Amino acid sequence: MTLDSVGPRILVFDSGLGGLTVFAPISAARPDATLTYVADDAFFPYGELSEAALVERVVALMGELVAAYAPDLVVIACNTASTLVLGPLRARFPSLPFVGTVPAIKPAAAASRSRLVSVLATPGTVARDYTRALVREFAGDCEVTLVGSRWLAGLAERALRGENVADEDIAAEIAPGYVERDGRRTDQIVLACTHFPLLAERLRANAPWAAELVDPGPAIARRVDALIGPVTPRRRAELSQAIFTSGAPAPPSLQKALRERGLTISSAN
Ligand code: DGL
Repeated sequence: MTLDSVGPRILVFDSGLGGLTVFAPISAARPDATLTYVADDAFFPYGELSEAALVERVVALMGELVAAYAPDLVVIACNTASTLVLGPLRARFPSLPFVGTVPAIKPAAAASRSRLVSVLATPGTVARDYTRALVREFAGDCEVTLVGSRWLAGLAERALRGENVADEDIAAEIAPGYVERDGRRTDQIVLACTHFPLLAERLRANAPWAAELVDPGPAIARRVDALIGPVTPRRRAELSQAIFTSGAPAPPSLQKALRERGLTISSAN
């Protein structure tokens, strides 16, 4: 196949549906790319896996995906995985560029006026040395609250599948991120799990006050675009493939949500 017929091949990977918040800006930036979305829902949620189990799973699965889809670039659209497995992936596939998704602590700290910044992530991401190092390096003069939410990624999955998600459940997960100190209030909430921007409107509606929700998706898309090089004249067919590792049937509401984002579930599961 020539590059003209497939364009650059980009694989976007997450444990579930969260990576769609990274897929969307990449899809908009690169209409010439062949995009494949992979959700490792057989192992969702990654936030509950031990570090050793997560490294083993992602490196092994990536071997299969690279063999099957021969991507030119892979986006790990998952903070929980990126903060741990980027090193092992780059060591295992040295000629393949990997773009990760890591907590956007640097821009949040730079933008904060109150110097109260919160990082809303999975329990895995908040426990990582990688995350703690970002806080030390870029937010040393802020009070940073790390919130390891056990349920919010799952609530985002349920909402996108068309299930009912209660406001109280969302409010309870985000409340620890809203801190008041001597008349100052948290003004930057880093959405350090790609699932969370799926719920952005509901996060705002259930927040005790308005704070900036920092979503790294657009910045990741700009990075991918720069690495892939100039846009070619090719335009991809209307829908890209979504692969779910569980092979479980998707309810119609999820199929609709995927179609709205330019994806259709691949029967090659
Ligand atoms: N979307 C993933 C992230 O960005 C996490 C969800 C999970 O726990 O699997 O961290």
